[in-house]
Amino acid sequence: MTLDDPTAFADARAALYDATRIAFFTGAGMSAESGIPTFRDALTGLWERFDPMLLASIEGFEADPALVWGWYEWRRQKVMQAQPNAGHAAIATFAAQAKPRQVAVVTQNVDDLHERAGTCNAAEIVHLHGSILAPRCSVCATPAAEALINAMPDEPEGGRRLTPPRCDVCGGSMRPGVVWFGESLPADAFDRAAKLAQSADAFVVVGTSGVVEPAASLVRHARRHGATVIVIDPNDSALTREAHFWIAGSAAHALPSLLRA
Ligand code: APR
Repeated sequence: MTLDDPTAFADARAALYDATRIAFFTGAGMSAESGIPTFRDALTGLWERFDPMLLASIEGFEADPALVWGWYEWRRQKVMQAQPNAGHAAIATFAAQAKPRQVAVVTQNVDDLHERAGTCNAAEIVHLHGSILAPRCSVCATPAAEALINAMPDEPEGGRRLTPPRCDVCGGSMRPGVVWFGESLPADAFDRAAKLAQSADAFVVVGTSGVVEPAASLVRHARRHGATVIVIDPNDSALTREAHFWIAGSAAHALPSLLRA
């Protein structure tokens, strides 16, 4: 179904407006129109240009902390310079509308664009893969000082090596506050996300390729427990084939149309 398929689009909107518990499950495509690269899009995806095992794994960090820290500082700079797009705003507006709807956002993204769009004023936001804005000590897990988090990195591209700062408490090396390949998701975050998927009447999947587990399992979990699954993605994927409705459009264009009152 594409945006110009009026019947199916109307059915998807009806299913959404009949729902009382709605969960949005977002991935990198949600922030693409804010200028933040996705991971697997051909040519532009981060994993098309960088080796994830070198940059997004504990082994990579231990082998070359300065390379990994410099790369995440470049990404953190892009997040700090980015603005929420019309898709983030549409979810925030939808969540703020009169109850009795319960709206939640489960995101794989490590940016804060859902928060900066105001969604957190009306909906719970669960971050499955941590936050690029929350570095912590790699030894004692002490969070980075506000000054470090708020400092705009001066990393112009994704390749310069930057020595990670030292922890004020134990002297250990700071690390990005994100979940790397091979690491477990924060147990409380995934448990919460699974409960939201299980209880959802509608599960709106936006901009994820669905290739990373256990996050992607939430879509099957939601569907198994009776949710109407709506997928917004310009490209087809394993998730679009599992959906009740696939809107072949972008987050910033499809969400405002789907969610308008
Ligand atoms: N609007 C909606 N979807 C989009 C847009 C857009 N403007 N642009 C791209 N997409 C879609 C792509 O078609 C793709 O299906 O977004 C998806 C992005 O997929 P990935 O790049 O694989 O990102 P994601 O699914 O979030 O990756 C999951 O992998 O590397 C790890 O931890 C990382 O959280 C990340 C996880």
